[in-house]
Amino acid sequence: MRKLTYFIACSLDGFIGDPEGDGSSMYRFAVGDVFEYLTTEYPETNPTHVRRAIGTDDVPNGKFDTIIQGRGSYDVALKEGITSPYAHLREYVASRSLKESPDPNVEIIGDDLVAKVRELKAEDGDLGIYLCGGSQIAGELLDEIDELVIKSYPIVFGTGMPMFGSDFALTEFTLDEVRAFDNGVVVRTYSRKR
Ligand SMILES: NC(=O)c1ccc[n+]([C@@H]2O[C@H](COP(=O)([O-])OP(=O)(O)OC[C@H]3O[C@@H](n4cnc5c(N)ncnc54)[C@H](OP(=O)(O)O)[C@@H]3O)[C@@H](O)[C@H]2O)c1
Repeated sequence: MRKLTYFIACSLDGFIGDPEGDGSSMYRFAVGDVFEYLTTEYPETNPTHVRRAIGTDDVPNGKFDTIIQGRGSYDVALKEGITSPYAHLREYVASRSLKESPDPNVEIIGDDLVAKVRELKAEDGDLGIYLCGGSQIAGELLDEIDELVIKSYPIVFGTGMPMFGSDFALTEFTLDEVRAFDNGVVVRTYSRKR
């Protein structure tokens, strides 16, 4: 069974961005040894154009070979004219409004999102599935998430877009690893308690 991992940047108070979802205020902390760690451990989570810019475009995928994102998250790239933001991965975008994919590398999941995710998880293979977000799709897929990698940035938003746009639901996870950095960034990895 392949793992579905929600790999996400969030504020200290658990928001993935401002009320519109913009998390760019967190980028300034992803520097120095934080940048080094993320680029070494999770090179495939950088968009393809970023990999090209930082010279890691030929680094093989280490943890994931597939990405799933909601149309809200995909829109961030589309608005920049980028139709395949993660061309080094198999890309799936959940959307009921996008009837045709803007790119041959991007497959639209129009209905039965959970069934499609279960199908992907059941495939053979050593690499897992990167759930990119955003909030709404993470909320809908909460029951399918096997692992959380939370990049916690030392900033409080007060309000914003929550990590999970779901109803109240208690779901327990077990801490597997913590990496703390001098600039206050903490990356925590959790497994779902089954
Ligand atoms: N901090 C971080 O690390 C991080 C990571 C990723 C994203 N983000 C931010 O998150 C924001 C987007 O989050 P969001 O919650 O607004 O949107 P989202 O979860 O990315 O996408 C929501 C959209 O996904 C589609 N969808 C949802 N459930 C579906 C289902 N069951 N079947 C088919 N399609 C489904 C719908 O698209 P249609 O309306 O087309 O039907 C829905 O509008 C962005 O601003 C982005 O910057 C932050």
